[in-house]
Amino acid sequence: MSRIVYVNGDWLPEAEAKVSVFDRGFLMADGVYEVTSVLGGKLIDFEGHCVRLDRSLSELEMTNPHSAEEWLAIFREIVARNGIEDGMVYLQVTRGNPGDRDFAYPAADLPPTVVLFTQSKPGLADSPAAKTGWKVISVEDIRWGRRDIKTVQLLYPSMAKMAAKKAGVDDAWLVEDGFVTEGTSNNAYIVKGNKIITRALSSDILHGITRAAVLRFAAEAQMEVEERNFTIAEAQAADEAFITSASAFVMPVVEIDGQALSDGKVGRVASRMREIYLDEMRKAAL
Ligand code: PDD
Repeated sequence: MSRIVYVNGDWLPEAEAKVSVFDRGFLMADGVYEVTSVLGGKLIDFEGHCVRLDRSLSELEMTNPHSAEEWLAIFREIVARNGIEDGMVYLQVTRGNPGDRDFAYPAADLPPTVVLFTQSKPGLADSPAAKTGWKVISVEDIRWGRRDIKTVQLLYPSMAKMAAKKAGVDDAWLVEDGFVTEGTSNNAYIVKGNKIITRALSSDILHGITRAAVLRFAAEAQMEVEERNFTIAEAQAADEAFITSASAFVMPVVEIDGQALSDGKVGRVASRMREIYLDEMRKAAL
């Protein structure tokens, strides 16, 4: 079924939606994005994504074209127009179409290009993978130095994902200077006893919206949280591991570079955090 997508204020069937060949998103990867999940027809952690969008735009000296209220109305409308029960809303904002290719930014008053589209994923929260867990491999992290900005330049994460697929596993953990930064499109965690360990926030990783919520819920559940670097060897020796993202929520990791964690089964902490996250986020969904 053809989707209705949003392009700069217009609602169009996907086959009729067009963006200029001079768009800087296309020419320079000069744009940012947000991925927000939908469960039961409602947006999960919309506010968090809206705040991060604003930060990504301001770090790139782009003006946010809409207020949070306006974004919410647009997000709700695209969910309704496409009848999304469970799935994702993708928002792409680029610096727009200056009409020519130039490395310098165009004038600040050039309107950005705003595109939204949906992907329907019935049963998104009941993914069978959550019961068996993901296997991951490690690859070198050779991305640029501003991973805290959610830009559309996703080529290296795509290459790392392909390396994982070729290795017959689910994802890759990126490693820099011997320490895990994050997954291709998610934040990475290990568990030792009652302690959740994850890399601290910096420009080395994306500041995950799911990460923020999960760490809040973990503290509320009296779990210890330690924000520090860890190596692949430490992860392989941990009791459990998991990842978080807006699309996978909390996903257990049961194998790293061919080494099973504990007994290779999904861990208690990861399962519990997934349950708490989904329960709490459904309650607060907009
Ligand atoms: N990716 N780290 C990276 C590199 C990411 O691309 C993402 C999200 C995350 C998790 O962030 P959040 O919890 O806010 O989704 C961490 C999205 C889901 C994507 O590109 O599809």
